[in-house]
Parts: sequence; C-alpha cells; structure tokens
Amino acid sequence: MKGVRSPRTREPLHRVSNGSHGELSTGRPGRRGSPLVLFASVEVAPFSQVGGLGDVAGSLPTALAEAGIRVVVVTPWYGAPDTRSTAAEQAGVTITVPGLAGPEQFQVWRGELRSGVPVLFLVNANLFGSSYVYVAERDRQRFAAFSRAVVELMRVLPVDILHANDWHTCPAVIWHRELRYRSRALFHQRSVLTIHNLAHQGITDVTYARALGLEVDELLDEERARYPDTINVLARGILAADAVTTVSPSYAEEIKTPAFGEGLDRLLRQRGDRLLGILNGIDTAWYNPAADPALPSRYTVENLEGKALCKRTLQRELDLASSSELPLVGVISRLDRQKGIDLVVEAIDELIGLGVQVALLGTGDTTLERQIAEASRRYPQLVASVLRFDAELARRIYAASDIFLMPSRFEPCGIGQFIALRYGAVPVVHRTGGLADTVQEWHAPSGSGNGFVFEEHTPEALLAAVRRAVDVFQKPVEWQRLVRNAMECDVSWSRSALEYARVYDFILGLATSAGAPSSAAER
Ligand code: GLC
Repeated sequence: MKGVRSPRTREPLHRVSNGSHGELSTGRPGRRGSPLVLFASVEVAPFSQVGGLGDVAGSLPTALAEAGIRVVVVTPWYGAPDTRSTAAEQAGVTITVPGLAGPEQFQVWRGELRSGVPVLFLVNANLFGSSYVYVAERDRQRFAAFSRAVVELMRVLPVDILHANDWHTCPAVIWHRELRYRSRALFHQRSVLTIHNLAHQGITDVTYARALGLEVDELLDEERARYPDTINVLARGILAADAVTTVSPSYAEEIKTPAFGEGLDRLLRQRGDRLLGILNGIDTAWYNPAADPALPSRYTVENLEGKALCKRTLQRELDLASSSELPLVGVISRLDRQKGIDLVVEAIDELIGLGVQVALLGTGDTTLERQIAEASRRYPQLVASVLRFDAELARRIYAASDIFLMPSRFEPCGIGQFIALRYGAVPVVHRTGGLADTVQEWHAPSGSGNGFVFEEHTPEALLAAVRRAVDVFQKPVEWQRLVRNAMECDVSWSRSALEYARVYDFILGLATSAGAPSSAAER
C-alpha cells in the first residue's frame, strides 16, 4: 500500500465524451493511476445540510483531492430550479431510470465545492422539488431513484469506486453489486459504504421494495427478527459493499456489540474483516479562528486576546452577565436523546451551582426545547438558549466558550468536539464512539490531555467532569496549557484521507485479479 500521494494538480478538466450521454467532467487528474471516486451523498454542505453527513460530504472530497485522488461528488438538487443557476450549469446529460409511476428523468448539472472539486447535481423536480432533504414517507422512493441514477452514471463515467454514505445511497451499492457481473462497464468498479449513523436503516416494506426495483428473494434474519415483511436497505448495503467504513475506530468496535449494533451487530461482526473505523475531520481552512469572518475578533493559539473579546461580545449578544471570571460552557447540538441533552437539563441547577454560564444553541425535541427555554427564564444572566439553526452564531459560541459540553449517549464520530478544539473551547465529553477517540482527560502532572471525559452516562458523572474543568479554569497557567493542547490537536482530514486512499487501493487491488466478462454479457 502506498503512503505518499502527489499534491493536488490544477490542470484543466479531464473530459470524457460519450455519444448518447453528452459530456461529463470527471475533475482534474489526481496522482498517476489514481482511482476515480464517485462520492454519493444526499447531503452536501454548503448546498444541503441537515446534520454531520452534510459536513463530511462537503469537506472529505476536498481532502481526498488534496491527497491526489480524483473525486466527483454526486447529490440530488433540492428545490426550485431558478436558484440552481447560480451554483451550477447544465451538463447536457439526462439519465432515465425506472420509477414507481413510470420512468423518472434526472438532468445532470455541474457545480463545484468551494475547493473546486466537481459536484454533479441530479435534478428531478418531481422527487426533489422541495428544498427539504428529508420528507419522511417518500424518502425510500426518492433515494432509490437517485441511487439508481447514480448507478447509470457509473456506466458513462470511468469510475473506479462508488463511495456511498448511509442508507440513502445503499440501493446504489446493492444494484451495482447485482449489475456488475453482467456489465463490462461496471465490472471493475468497486464500492465503499460509510456508515455515519447506524440508527437510520431505511427499513422498507417488501412489496414496496419490489416496486422500487430492489429484488428480494429471501429475507435476512435481521429483517425477519425486527419487522416481518420488511427489507433493511442498510443491512443489504453492508452485505453488498466491498468495504464498509464508519466514522471512528471506537464506533467500528461498538457497533459489533448488541448494545450499539441496532440489530445489525451480527452482520457487522460477520463483515468484520471488511469493516474499518476512520475518524472524521473538519475543513480547517473554513473553521479557523484566525480568519473566521463570523467572529467579532480573530485569534490564534499564540495570542488569545481575541478569544476573550469574543466571549465579552457573546455575553452581550445573548444577554448573559458580562464576566471573564465565569467559565462559559457552550452546547451546540441537535436536541435529542442521542446527544444526551436530557442530562444537561437534569443537571442544570447543579451546573449553575458550579459557577458557570451556559450558552445553548440547537433545535429538536420539543420537550427538551421547552425545558431549556424554562431554564434560561430561571437563570436569565446565566443560561442563554437559542432554539434555532444558525451556523454563524454557532461559530461565535465555539469561539466564546471556555468549555464545550458533548454528553452524547452514543456518537459515531461527532463534529462539534473538533470545532471546539480548533476554537480553543475545552471539550467535556461522554466516553463513547468518536468522542472517546478524540478527547483525552487532562493530566496536570504531565501537562497532557485536551479535555475532560466521563464514563457513566449520568448527570453526576457529567457534573464531576465539568467540576474538574472548572477547577483547572481557576488556575490560569494550567488552563492556558490545556487550551494550547486543544488548539494544537490535528483535527484536519489529512490523515483520514490517506486512510480512505488505502481502502480504495485495497479493494481495487482485489479487482485486478478477476477477469472481465465478455461483451456478450453486457447489459
Ligand atoms: C452523524 C453522526 C455523527 C457523525 C456524522 C458525520 O451525524 O451522528 O457522530 O459525526 O454523522 O459522520
């Protein structure tokens, strides 16, 4: 396996022409012999984003390109066509796939990530005409059609690897597996599936699955055991993919156990030799306190004065008591059970008793929203809650916070702790999944560690960890060292991009040993 990649080149687009399909760009060339990866995701920031999947799909492809891999992102276009024109141009390609009520057509539009990595938008107003990424009951139908179109795209692009993400694009992995033995165009291609969250599996009624074109001969034990007469799109994707990755080494181990496996642990153990945890990263050029335009003042690890000013400004913005002495605890999260926000609600009085302020940003569960709003009414100077999604305010909170709290019950990777480290907000986390892999407890005698970690998922354990953080906050020299450790952590994608490159090499290595089918078998 090769560890060294050539730097990203800035050469003109390499074009592939196909008579019946028009012209499609496959991006700039990468390292010599580099595979072409088609990265399929139903969320891609900044075009569409609901959660962490959008962050990853919007930033990992850039890191792959920087590692010398040719990569093209493919995603649905959501919403009205008029806004599309600013972000993309028509590629002159139409893909037709079977749909529930007759054929569905996708127009291919071409755009770019901020870094210049090509993005293909598949446009179909019938299925993706609203600006919502997820619309509950219709999602299986919408994403099956999108996935089918991705497979058709793979016939005309010289793709080596399909990189699918979560259950939404699993139908592409499943179809590709089925069709590749009958198609010369698809035969040498391989697939990788990345699981961002095992809790969502795309469980689909068998009759409906058949109507969507997914062939179902026999049900898996996992399917029968959970809901009779349903197929599990994620489970089938896990079986069909040449490699399965998830977003942290710890989560890769956890999901092989009944406690975290969401009913698929047996299957994941079975695929253990092809299952790998690769830690997420963040785009460190975008999340950069030294250059972030959302901040009232910028700072670096060498000079943290700007961070103090960010704190004062945020205290004013959120009507919190103005004080540099009170440690400010930031919480930025979807408000739900996975994220363990119920612990914060339960512990709020004791938290305030430790002499901290809390700034909380997020939306979700209405009961949690109500409880949080109620806490900020009770402690107007000490608890601020903003119950909406606001990416800029989020960055101001990361910058202003001394401590960042992430009490997730389970966490495949988590992104908040990376941004917090980068912005010098010391993370306090529950030891699970990616949080366990990225935050190490502060150890004063050796000056090592970048945060505080609690083991039991209880309000008491959370409070004890925050208390440890507050104690160190009172000792400025120690605290400065801790903040420095946090800010100096490598939270970029660079190491993980190389790990993905090795996975691609690995599965393509297998590909070269098999013989191609004859053109007679071509479909
Ligand atoms: C999901 C997971 C989160 C992960 C993200 C990106 O949102 O819950 O832990 O960081 O996907 O992989």
